[in-house]
Amino acid sequence: MIGKDIKKAIEILNNEQLVAIPTETVYGLGGNALSTKAVTEIFKAKNRPSFDPLIIHTDSLEKVRKYVETIPEKAMLLAREFMPGSLTLLLPKKDIIPDLVTSGSSLVAVRLPKHSMALELLSELDFPLAAPSANPFGYISPTTAQHVSNQLGKKIPYILDGGSCEVGLESTIVGFEGDEVIIFRKGGIAVERIEAVIGSVKVLTHSTSNPKAPGQLKSHYAPRTTFKIGNPTMLLDQYKRKNVGVISFTKNYEQVPSEKQIILSESGDFSEAARNLFAGMRYLDGLDLDLIIAELLPERDLGRAINDRLKRAAA
Ligand code: TXA
Ligand code: MG
Repeated sequence: MIGKDIKKAIEILNNEQLVAIPTETVYGLGGNALSTKAVTEIFKAKNRPSFDPLIIHTDSLEKVRKYVETIPEKAMLLAREFMPGSLTLLLPKKDIIPDLVTSGSSLVAVRLPKHSMALELLSELDFPLAAPSANPFGYISPTTAQHVSNQLGKKIPYILDGGSCEVGLESTIVGFEGDEVIIFRKGGIAVERIEAVIGSVKVLTHSTSNPKAPGQLKSHYAPRTTFKIGNPTMLLDQYKRKNVGVISFTKNYEQVPSEKQIILSESGDFSEAARNLFAGMRYLDGLDLDLIIAELLPERDLGRAINDRLKRAAA
């Protein structure tokens, strides 16, 4: 069921059941992070392997301190700048956080979402919400309540509808090792903005398997339709006998009917492109095409995170 009833959502969550929640990045599948029962349900509903840990969500830094041992100085600087927002920090967990949440890691991923409905909900709860993206494991993340309903509607009692996600890409995940700051997942806060606050960081590149951040699995965020990245003009020529859809940054490809074409941002705006990406991928994936062709964006700003998702979709 889809609705806007925060009280109802609280009641369900207090019962150790699941509610899909809106955030500014993507919709999350929320459950009481301190309850192994609720957390087990999350893994089950998503068909998610237990080695892939969950992010916990809360509404204030004071509450974060109840769940983590320490917050390194550079983490504090980032928190002050970007929380609430599309930033997830990996921090040493306190025992109160079940090992199931972190897949046995001593670090827990923490985020304060920048969405009024989510913050209101979180402020009323006595526990943090564990919330992975509300999609079956490996598929495209949902950016509307309807996306969640299409795939998980039968498995969860309630979907809180907070409209379309404003950012449209998952959060940027940042970890701290000694003096080094490491970006484990490029996301809604561009690397340049992080570096502007704390200096240069190490960005983990595209890897096939990375035990520290399974969200870095090479094939992820993937539509069911065959997905190829490259120069659309060349690929459209190569596959001209096929039923093809296109995702472009700014350009209209006249060879393709407009209903099979997603232009992420005609004006070349990275934020607008990010907002349109996942809904566009889902839309084309629903057309029963032979192939989806996508072009990469310039490798800067949110273009880096968008390219990361496109590459994984094609892997
Ligand atoms: O924007 C977001 O981050 C969304 C919204 C709902 O908040 N959540 C999200 O969660 O994208 P999920 O589960 O789809 O991706 C979380 C990523 C996973 O790749 C996971 O491996 C990584 O965070 N992660 C979580 N806890 C971790 C930990 N303790 N150490 C390393 N990586 C962790
Ligand atoms: Mg996910």
